[in-house]
Amino acid sequence: MKYNFDEIIQRKHTDCLKYDNLKEMFGTEEVLPMWIADMDFRTPDFIVDAIRNRLSHELLGYSYICKRWRPAIQSWVSRRYGWEIQTDEIGFVGGIVPAISFALQCFTKAGDKVMIQPPVYHPYHHVTHDLERELVFNPLKLVDGQLEIDFADFEEKIKGCKVFLLCNPHNPCGRVWSKEELQRMCDICVENNVLVISDEIHCDMALKGFKHTPFASVSEDAKNNSITFMAASKTFNIAGLKSSYHIIQNPEIRNQYNEFLRKSELDTAHVFATGPVATAYEQGEEWVEQMLEYVEANIDFMEQYLKENMPKMGMIRPQASFLVFLDARGLGLPHDKLVEFFIREAKVGMNDGAMFGEEGSGFMRMNLGCPRSVVEKALKQIKEAYDKIA
Ligand SMILES: Cc1ncc(COP(=O)(O)O)c(C=O)c1O
Repeated sequence: MKYNFDEIIQRKHTDCLKYDNLKEMFGTEEVLPMWIADMDFRTPDFIVDAIRNRLSHELLGYSYICKRWRPAIQSWVSRRYGWEIQTDEIGFVGGIVPAISFALQCFTKAGDKVMIQPPVYHPYHHVTHDLERELVFNPLKLVDGQLEIDFADFEEKIKGCKVFLLCNPHNPCGRVWSKEELQRMCDICVENNVLVISDEIHCDMALKGFKHTPFASVSEDAKNNSITFMAASKTFNIAGLKSSYHIIQNPEIRNQYNEFLRKSELDTAHVFATGPVATAYEQGEEWVEQMLEYVEANIDFMEQYLKENMPKMGMIRPQASFLVFLDARGLGLPHDKLVEFFIREAKVGMNDGAMFGEEGSGFMRMNLGCPRSVVEKALKQIKEAYDKIA
């Protein structure tokens, strides 16, 4: 491999959420951080160099969106997904959670219904709730070790909703939705006049045997009735740059959203937000492929380790990205005790599965975007604790 993903990088004392916020998050500093969704891999050198190059001009005044940014995104989604878009369909927004909040403010009003599919990325719950929109749940079902959509329930619950918030691929559990599943959700939403917001932040990280399909690419209906959010942040480990974008192909929806952003100047990018991202898309293909290969081997390692050493636990194998949903229901502990067990006994800091919805009770989300030696250490710590109670 050209890139070294085994390298241990000291992140403590860098104002890093994953390592410097342990006390607030877990009530103790004594945990190995395997939570929040950024990776412990070095941000690739071509991105850091792009930032350094810009910094070598020592004047950080107001910046304009880099001219290479839109063509770089256009070419990336064409190369990777065969999705042909126009550059004027792309717009800047500083973070996908804010982008979702802005979209809900733009296209719904207080009291309107927004459907989500728990267990799902927790800010979907919080943002919708905080904006006083009503949450409607279409829970995903666990069938043969993978999440499936309950379409009968989907058809029922979508009635009266204004927006469906889709996580594509899904977080947690890393489910990659097929073209057929996306089209079926699209048809139901169109029939019920429901706008689809498709959060595709994990799109570049489909693992072996799986292929990401942008929701808007499945049909004319999907194209005309959706907003897509994407970013290079997960892909290249640059979440701290707070740089993401929307792709909206329906001109009416696009104009309405752009107008909303423009009125509050929410569409302006900071000085490092677009140039380094353009560089990532221009130069990053090889890095992404190697990173995914490494992550996949971490997932294989964990699956095997659980089978051999902790048969009462299992995992939902992700089809995309580096987040594994650890199934600890077999330990028979009530959920709050389970969370305590992993923090106090195993001393591994993971996301509590129930934060994604009650469907996540009995599960913990573990981040495998880190060197293999860290995965091994975490699993050994869990095994030592497991052996005392299993
Ligand atoms: C599905 C999903 N959407 C959005 C985000 C966060 O996006 P941002 O940091 O751009 O707000 C995450 C981060 O984990 C995520 O998993």
